[in-house]
Amino acid sequence: MKPQKPPKTFRVKSFGCQMNVYDGERMAELLAEKGITPAPEGEDADLVVLNTCHIREKAAEKIYSDIGRLTKGKTQEKAPMIAVAGCVAQAEGEEIMTRAPAVSMVVGPQAYHRLPDMLDKAVKGERATDTDMPAIAKFDSLPQRRKRSPTAFLTVQEGCDKFCTYCVVPYTRGAEISRPFSDLIAEARKLIEAGAREITLLGQNVNAWSGEDVKGQRVGLAGLIRALARLDGLERIRYTTSHPNDMEDDLIAAHGEIDKLMPYLHLPVQSGNDRVLKAMNRSHTAESYLRLLERFREARPDIALSGDFIVGFPGETEAEFEDTLSIVDEVRYAQAFSFKYSPRPGTPAATMEDQIAKEVMDDRLQRLQARLNRDQLAFNAASVGKRCTVLVERKGKHPGQWLGKSPWLQSVWFEGECQIGDMVEVDLIEAGPNSLQGALLAGN
Ligand code: 5AD
Ligand code: SF4
Repeated sequence: MKPQKPPKTFRVKSFGCQMNVYDGERMAELLAEKGITPAPEGEDADLVVLNTCHIREKAAEKIYSDIGRLTKGKTQEKAPMIAVAGCVAQAEGEEIMTRAPAVSMVVGPQAYHRLPDMLDKAVKGERATDTDMPAIAKFDSLPQRRKRSPTAFLTVQEGCDKFCTYCVVPYTRGAEISRPFSDLIAEARKLIEAGAREITLLGQNVNAWSGEDVKGQRVGLAGLIRALARLDGLERIRYTTSHPNDMEDDLIAAHGEIDKLMPYLHLPVQSGNDRVLKAMNRSHTAESYLRLLERFREARPDIALSGDFIVGFPGETEAEFEDTLSIVDEVRYAQAFSFKYSPRPGTPAATMEDQIAKEVMDDRLQRLQARLNRDQLAFNAASVGKRCTVLVERKGKHPGQWLGKSPWLQSVWFEGECQIGDMVEVDLIEAGPNSLQGALLAGN
C-alpha cells in the first residue's frame, strides 16, 4: 500500500448490538483526540471505520459490499482510508486483509484503543492488524465521552462463557470479564456531567457482572445498580442483555425496590422447546424460564418483557417450533427480536445434521413475527390512558414535535414546549405498532 494522506475527517459506521454503538462512540472520541473531526452529514469522510457484527451471515457479508461501495472506481488517492473494527475483524482479520486490499487497518473489539497508533502506520503505507484480547486494558486507555446526550451506554461486562452452540460471541468477544466497580461509578459520574439522565448498562451477559464495592464486599449487578441509583442527576437505569442462568434474587428484588430502575427486562429464551434448548446448550428449560419471568412480574407487575428468538435451529421440527409459538402466547412480550438461524463458521451447530431449508425458516419466522407484532401492538394499546414520564431525547420530524421514551422503552412523540433532556409528564393517547402519541401535561 502507498503512503496515504493523514485523514482530516472520519465517519464511524456501527452495525449490530448496542455494545458496538458504545465501542463506536469510544473510537470516535479517540479519533477526535487526534484532531480528526467527524465528517459533516452528506459529505465523504477521509477515514471510514466499519464497526462490524459477526452474529449472523448477512451482517458479516455487509462489510464487503460496503468496502466495494467506498472504493468503486476510485484510485487509492481518491478512496477513503478504511478501518475494519468489531467482531468480523476479530473473527476474519486475515481474510479481510487478503480479500480487501483497500483496507488499511483491522482492529478487534478488545484492541481498538490502539487505533491511533495503527493510523500513524497506515499513513506511512503500512497495513496493520490488531486482534489481541487484553480486555480491561482497553477501558483504561479510552478517552472520556464529550458528546452531550440525555441517554448513554456504559459497558460494564464483556464476553461470554456460555457457548450456546449457534453463537460466535464467545469466540469474538472472548471470556466473561467484569469492569471494576469504582471505574464504573467514575465513568457514570462523567456521563452524568455530560448530560446523561439515563444510563443503560451493557454486557453480553450483563447480569453476570460481579465486583467489589467500596467496602470490599462482593456485589452483583443489583449492587452496582443500587450504587448508581444514589448518584444525583441520574434518573433512569436500564441493563441489557441478560442470561436466565445468571439471574440473582437480588436483581429481581431490585425491580420492586429501586424507582430509578426502569420496568423493562430483555431476557432471551431463543426457543420454547426443551430438546432444542438442550441442543443449543442453553442450560435452562422453557418452564424454568417462565418461572423466572413470573418472579419478575411479582416484583414489578407492570414490567415490560422482551426476548430474542431463533427459528430453524438444526433439527427443529414443526412441533418443536410450535412450542416457541406457545411460549410467546404465554409470555405476551412487549417487544422482541427474532432471527432465522444462521450457521456461523467454527460453532458446533454449523456442522450439525438436519440444517433447515431456507423456505421453512422463512415461513416460521413470518408466523413467529406475526404473533410478536400482535403482542407489541397490544402492549402499546394497553398503555393508552396511562400517564407517564418521558425522557426527551430529540426533536421529531415536524416543527414543535418531540420524541422520547416511556419507562417501558416505548417511543413516544408529542407536541409542546420543552427541551432535550427534560423529563416530562404526558398522557398516552394513541398507540401504533412502534410508537405512541402523548399529550404533554400543562405545567411541565
Ligand atoms: N443465528 C441466528 N441468530 C443468532 N443469534 C445469535 N447467534 C445467532 C445465529 N447463529 C441471535 C440470538 C441472540 C441475538 C443477539 O442474536 O437470538 O440472542
Ligand atoms: Fe451467544 Fe449464548 Fe453467550 Fe448470548 S449467552 S452471547 S447467545 S453464547
